[in-house]
Amino acid sequence: MRRIIFALSIALLFGCEPPLQIDEHPADPPGWDADLALPEAEDLNPDPHVLEISLTAKIITREFKPGVQTELWTYNGLLPGPMIRAKKNDRVIVHFKNELPEATTIHWHGLRIPAAMDGTEHVQSPVQPGSTFPYDFIVPDAGTFWYHPHVRSSHQVNDGLYGAFIVEDPDKPELGAELVVVLSDLLVDPDGTLGSPNAGGHLGDYFGREGNILLVNGRTKPTLRTRTGRAQRWRIINAARTRYYWFRLPGHRLFKVASDGGFIEAPQPVEDVFLTPGERVEVMVIPEPDAPETQTVQWLPYERGYATSLRPEEPLMNLEVSDLPPTEPPAPPPWLREIPPLVTSGAVQQRIELTEESVNGRIEMGVNGLPFGVGGHIHAHVGETHVWEIANTTEADHPFHLHGFFFQVLDVNGVKPDYREWRDMVNVPQKTTMRVAVQFDDRPGTWMFHCHILDHADLGMMGMIELMAPHP
Ligand code: C2O
Ligand code: CU
Repeated sequence: MRRIIFALSIALLFGCEPPLQIDEHPADPPGWDADLALPEAEDLNPDPHVLEISLTAKIITREFKPGVQTELWTYNGLLPGPMIRAKKNDRVIVHFKNELPEATTIHWHGLRIPAAMDGTEHVQSPVQPGSTFPYDFIVPDAGTFWYHPHVRSSHQVNDGLYGAFIVEDPDKPELGAELVVVLSDLLVDPDGTLGSPNAGGHLGDYFGREGNILLVNGRTKPTLRTRTGRAQRWRIINAARTRYYWFRLPGHRLFKVASDGGFIEAPQPVEDVFLTPGERVEVMVIPEPDAPETQTVQWLPYERGYATSLRPEEPLMNLEVSDLPPTEPPAPPPWLREIPPLVTSGAVQQRIELTEESVNGRIEMGVNGLPFGVGGHIHAHVGETHVWEIANTTEADHPFHLHGFFFQVLDVNGVKPDYREWRDMVNVPQKTTMRVAVQFDDRPGTWMFHCHILDHADLGMMGMIELMAPHP
């Protein structure tokens, strides 16, 4: 029915019979993504199942105010860093070199790889200035991931160290032309230099620092070209230090097809797009005949606590519908993949309370009342399933992230979600309790979980999981 209405509305709009104005071999508008395309890391290995690349962390300068050079910390001199594009089950070798003035690591956010390759500073000894480290692992899951440092991450991510990591599925369904969208922000002072990563002092940590320049693939207000009826598959990554992203696309039909851990079971029609820091969402975006010829996508202020919703909207990017004839809008595939529910009978129960406490006039964030290093240790055994009750007793949202394993949300304040998905990020709204299930496969070692508002992680909202050999 919807389809017929759509065809009729096209007919009304263009004043001819629907079958006549449908392009049989539709193409995307020329240069549709020219303003947004991300450079890819070059594959140095001829083996089709091995992706071998070089990444160098180094400082570059860029002009945000004419004539003023601002220093950025980058991978390979690019902001965001080069996009890494592998295929499921590929071996990925990264020759990493640190040319920064301080130690760093690379954390492969969302990849289920061995603990020794996860790039957490408490597991891997940080790569010192002038040193190198060979990362080498197999990527077992298709999906949209990203990479960033895990040493002083609130500062290093703030200064520009992050990039997209795409793992392709060999049998991918037709979802439209692919666009990788890395959302981030930068704090630039009025004089054109990069704002202090400590801006606002202790309160800055507490609120979480947001930049004042919104970037889409490292650019301000880029323009994307679309075509009526023609689908695009947006793989969206929120790489910001603190900022949540929330936007709508008036005149477009949206279907969510994937989240952190790859495809959901079936496309879900959605009204808007929402991502916490660290989170990924994939949507099919289909311009409808009534989409405005040009529009600015607005960043919408979401209330994550501290009256953050009282701020104004901000322009994010421009959409321009090309004047190519409309095409027949595709029906999203009815099914993407099966996600079996984790079996939770006999699971180990854990409570993880996200807490804050005032200690000597400073606010300390923590897990179960204790800051990182003092509390927040969880013991688990390979093969176990855990059910975690994550309780946020504070008055601000915290985006919860688990390294190395996907989980399933069982319920939020007792209410089951509408559909199942594999996630490594979940927003835990203020005064909310949710239960998630996670199964520990055979990758023993130390793993982290933390709030992905990186300032909050620095304030202590971080914990470690000691994953040990299976129970005898
Ligand atoms: Cu994006 Cu500890 O990670
Ligand atoms: Cu937080």
